[in-house]
Amino acid sequence: MRILLLGSGGREHALAWKIAQSKQCSKLFIAPGNAGTGTVGENVSIGVNDFERLKEFTIEQKVDMVVVGPEDPLVNGIYDAFKDDKRTAHIPVIGPSKAGAVLEGSKDFAKAFMKRHNIPTAAYATFDGTSIEEGLQFLDTLKPPYVLKADGLAAGKGVLIVPTLAEAKEELRKMLDGMFGNASAKVVIEEFLSGIECSVFVLTDGSHYQILPEAKDYKRIGEHDTGLNTGGMGSVTPVPFATKEWMEKVEKRIIRPTVEGLKAENIDYKGFIFFGLINVDGEPMVIEYNCRMGDPETESVMLRLKTDIVDLFKGVAEGNLNQYKVEFDSRSAVCVMLVSGGYPEEYVKGYPITGLDKVADSVVFHSGTALKDGQIVTNGGRVIAVSSYGKNKEEALQKSFEEANKIEFKDKYFRRDIGQDL
Ligand code: AMP
Ligand code: GLY
Repeated sequence: MRILLLGSGGREHALAWKIAQSKQCSKLFIAPGNAGTGTVGENVSIGVNDFERLKEFTIEQKVDMVVVGPEDPLVNGIYDAFKDDKRTAHIPVIGPSKAGAVLEGSKDFAKAFMKRHNIPTAAYATFDGTSIEEGLQFLDTLKPPYVLKADGLAAGKGVLIVPTLAEAKEELRKMLDGMFGNASAKVVIEEFLSGIECSVFVLTDGSHYQILPEAKDYKRIGEHDTGLNTGGMGSVTPVPFATKEWMEKVEKRIIRPTVEGLKAENIDYKGFIFFGLINVDGEPMVIEYNCRMGDPETESVMLRLKTDIVDLFKGVAEGNLNQYKVEFDSRSAVCVMLVSGGYPEEYVKGYPITGLDKVADSVVFHSGTALKDGQIVTNGGRVIAVSSYGKNKEEALQKSFEEANKIEFKDKYFRRDIGQDL
């Protein structure tokens, strides 16, 4: 099969690495890709939202399947764009339709969906410019801290957790006044939940689903979860509290009603569902849905997926995903993210990266790199993910830290406490 993967981060390098191992994959293109994806496939310089050029490319190159990494093109309707064009309607797109991607694209939709299907989540209410007074009154009824969420996509920055009522009221006004542009034209205010988070991933063909290895990610820049939020500083799988019993609750109360709910509402969904969960006194609750894999969770999860991922994608496309069996590697896997100094605030791009060839015991995924005059250079805040296996997470972490020390670029930083809270 000739496969086109969309995206350019560490998640996409990990997906490309896994797809390229499939006996069924005869050619892998990545658009636009990065210096790492270029080592397992052929990078094509087309943007993920340039649907016309992507369609033309798939026709010219006789591509058999398109796999979508990031949420943006899904929320913008890439699935429908391929399906509604006679020339590309036969090419399966792994990722939900625009109507399905709304699970991630609108927090208000996601919350209402969960309410309709009795899926456990924090209590909430949604407000817009016409209901500011009601929003302020609703805040009066809640206990601190206060959770305010921009309804739409805000590049991962749209959630505010504020300690005092006065600040919450101030932030609500600012959000509704365009703090995140159109994304915060509506604001979801919800009850604060206290617990440890866990990311659970499934692939669905719209009727059946298969559960992939779960993972925990580390969002804050500083050790012991301090400082600013980032795109993710590392990940660990398996997650110790995600026991068989806990995962049974997740499947029964959350996964199954979600897949059945999508089907009952005639929402065309063939792709990944990412359940952002929180463990509240042993009970799983949904914090958010995403319509794609997590980053940096994919960089550890792919190490533990033993099944051929292209088989699973075929099952998704053909609607017989139930005929495949998903096998997990019993080892632990962790990912440690090397980032640019200054990230998630300002940082410099273009520093040469050395030592990648010295890494022997880990898998290196590129997050933000580019090739400049034959030299791999930094090209983002998150630069390189170092992923390792171990008989337990401690051993896997130790390997990642040792290998991370071999890779050099100016002002490199990484967290040394990934997985230690579990
Ligand atoms: P989201 O973009 O919805 O994943 O939210 C970003 C982060 O905010 C989550 O990963 C949680 O750490 C936190 N968060 C979101 N909603 C809640 C909530 N209701 N209670 C506590 N923390 C939350
Ligand atoms: N790791 C969280 C995300 O991908 O949104």
